Amino acid sequence: MSARNSKSQYGWVAIALHWLMAPAIIGLFFLGWWMRSLTYYDAWYREGPALHKSIGLLLLGLLLVRLLWKLANPSPAAEPGTPRWQAQAARLVHGGLYLLLLVIMTSGYLISTADGRPIEVFGWFNVPASIQSIPHQEDIAGQVHKLLAWSLMAVVAAHGLAALKHHFIDRDATLRKMLGRSSGDSAAGRAQMAQGADSRK
Ligand code: HEM
Repeated sequence: MSARNSKSQYGWVAIALHWLMAPAIIGLFFLGWWMRSLTYYDAWYREGPALHKSIGLLLLGLLLVRLLWKLANPSPAAEPGTPRWQAQAARLVHGGLYLLLLVIMTSGYLISTADGRPIEVFGWFNVPASIQSIPHQEDIAGQVHKLLAWSLMAVVAAHGLAALKHHFIDRDATLRKMLGRSSGDSAAGRAQMAQGADSRK
């Protein structure tokens, strides 16, 4: 499989980034939710947030790589027969996911660095504080972070359900493409490709 995307297939870089980030994002949500319930006397009172911030910042790095990669590698076309509104809705959801992730990660950074202290990433390196001048920065960024993290989970659920609908109801290759197969693997895709070949004769 090629590293780059083609018109009918994702390359391995896009696939690896997708499946590396998806569980990490969902895991961060539950870690964030759980760590907020910890008290000073819990063993994970410090480790929970430290883990959340470290994974979150590494994910931010991956998100930037993914956005650059996407700019240079447009995604494969929607499956043949997909109504236009569905293709547009999918584009809107994907754009929304990227935007939500960027704002959630930025607000997380602003909460964590509001007191001027850097964030230590797994003890490997420090990310310095930069902005501390927003009034009530920690509270406001905290509210934004929480609200958007819940919104993100709603959009992630819609995204996952749409992929399952394509797979089990429409029976097209939308989900299989993210598992390394090509559009031509579905019945609709084969018909479309045959039609394309006929029209070129
Ligand atoms: C996809 C990425 C992320 C998700 C889904 C996420 C999710 C969450 C959730 C659900 C909470 C609990 C909110 C609450 O109930 O108040 C939380 C808290 C928190 N997150 Fe994140 N987070 C992400 C990234 C980050 C990053 C990158 C950082 C910092 C660099 C960060 C720092 C924090 C901090 C400091 C809290 C505690 C807030 C407080 O105590 O008020 N998060 N996060």
